[in-house]
Amino acid sequence: MQSPQGLVVITGEVGTGKTTMLECLRDFLRAQQIAFASLFNSRLTVEQFSSCSLTIWICAVTAIRRPRCCSGLNSFLLERAFGGRATVLIVDEAHNLDWDLLEEIRLLGNLENRRGKLLQVILAGQQELDQKLEQPDYRQLKQRISLRCTLRSFDPQETAAYINSRIGTRRH
Ligand SMILES: Nc1ncnc2c1ncn2[C@@H]1O[C@H](COP(=O)(O)OP(=O)(O)O)[C@@H](O)[C@H]1O
Ligand SMILES: [Mg+2]
Repeated sequence: MQSPQGLVVITGEVGTGKTTMLECLRDFLRAQQIAFASLFNSRLTVEQFSSCSLTIWICAVTAIRRPRCCSGLNSFLLERAFGGRATVLIVDEAHNLDWDLLEEIRLLGNLENRRGKLLQVILAGQQELDQKLEQPDYRQLKQRISLRCTLRSFDPQETAAYINSRIGTRRH
């Protein structure tokens, strides 16, 4: 995997496949042995996020090696970056994130050493997230985006192909 870049933001209506895509991404990261943390509950306060985040990170690396005790998230990320290993934070339902938690995540995404960023942040959410990012308060976050994409609904042809494939899967 390349070294972490700025923020990746994926938006789309309900049911357009954001969570499905993140599941595929997690499978890929597991296969590549890249440590990641996933947040599904985006209705956390900064305090709740900070207190659970280290546990999440430690869980994320147990799949790779027994984690060494680390004094905090920053030193954990620094240690991993020093070893040339990427670390990823995935947040689903990111449209629900409060301003201060989004700001906390932006600051985490800003952490860097001489080689570059320490953490790749991926935010996925409904279109309300796009609207949030257009607000003046979120301009610093918007500036940090390196990739932004919107998932659209299937067109009638794709819908028919999808239904056929699901029916086909059931038959086998
Ligand atoms: N591109 C796709 N290909 C196949 N199945 C899809 C696709 N997009 C969505 N689905 C199906 O639609 C359902 C809803 O998708 P989901 O990933 O939960 O959407 P979202 O998180 O955007 O609301 C899931 O059961 C998933 O299997
Ligand atoms: Mg979803």
